[in-house]
Amino acid sequence: MEIITNVTEGVIKKAAKALKDGHLVAFPTETVYGLGADATNEKAVSKVYSVKGRPTDHPLIVHISSINELDNWAIEIPDYAIKLAKKFWPGPMTLILKRSEIVQDFVTGGQDNVGIRVPAHSIALGLLSEFERLGGSGIAAPSANRFGAVSPTNAQAVDTELREFLNSKDMILNDGQSKLGIESTIINCTGNKPLIIRPGTITQEIIQATVKLNVSNHFDFGFIKAPGLLKKHYSPKVKVELNCVAKPGEGLMALSDIPTPSGVIRLATPKSIDEFAKLLYVIFRKADSLNLKKLIVILPDEKGICLAIKDRVTKAGAES
Ligand code: TXA
Ligand code: MG
Repeated sequence: MEIITNVTEGVIKKAAKALKDGHLVAFPTETVYGLGADATNEKAVSKVYSVKGRPTDHPLIVHISSINELDNWAIEIPDYAIKLAKKFWPGPMTLILKRSEIVQDFVTGGQDNVGIRVPAHSIALGLLSEFERLGGSGIAAPSANRFGAVSPTNAQAVDTELREFLNSKDMILNDGQSKLGIESTIINCTGNKPLIIRPGTITQEIIQATVKLNVSNHFDFGFIKAPGLLKKHYSPKVKVELNCVAKPGEGLMALSDIPTPSGVIRLATPKSIDEFAKLLYVIFRKADSLNLKKLIVILPDEKGICLAIKDRVTKAGAES
């Protein structure tokens, strides 16, 4: 397995060919790194599940190169979903739609709907276009971490998570730190209005303003039992706690204007909420590499993308 840092056009061609041949390619997106496989190749997709150690009833997101490909993958697409796709793709938004005939049970975990996303990243889009040129179509890609672990936001984290499970023909494409740092907003579009099932940087307010419909949430800060949205998820080894006072020897992540109590190990001082989101998983990993017992996260706010941060921190801190 190769980590490739200088991702030239030639490398993208090689990676697309590797996908077409049934190998796995980990690639950067604007949210987190994904572990990609040909979404129509059962053997390749089953490798994704085994490399991640993920139960096969947890559906994968199919990544496509543009909204023009959507009709191949989904049917009965409501108007509001088209509006969202036109406005936010390429971008950090996954739409759950009724699946078309090319979508097989091995991608959706047997569900009759499918998650679709057009990522906003030049390497991801280049890979998708080249894959199409070779006769391929969607790339199924979950976050490139072991099941239940924190999503990787750089290629080193992918390598640490998955190296021992990938083989020599698989590839990791490196493009440094992911721009957003938390996973896409997931919106269920199979009903008569959008339902947010995973919060992200495209927020309820933004979605509502776009579709002019009442948008509801179906996430519950770690207590969701729906398939694939387990309570314990995004978990580092360190015990993560939200909004409490850090004690000496404990780690702390908070906005830069919050002071560090004496003896506390300050792991990050983000200056904005966006930077906070971008650093969150990096700090989870850093706390683990320092073998910290506890990490206190002081949430910036309760609104907008802070809800997505709260969701991830609460899940990281869930007991089981
Ligand atoms: O930002 C992202 O979405 C990243 C990048 C790589 O695109 N991908 C990602 O995939 O986070 P994953 O598999 O780690 O998380 C997707 C979540 C899972 O909890 C999965 O069960 C849920 O979305 N999901 C996928 N398809 C679904 C479907 N058809 N119905 C309900 N939930 C679905
Ligand atoms: Mg994941």
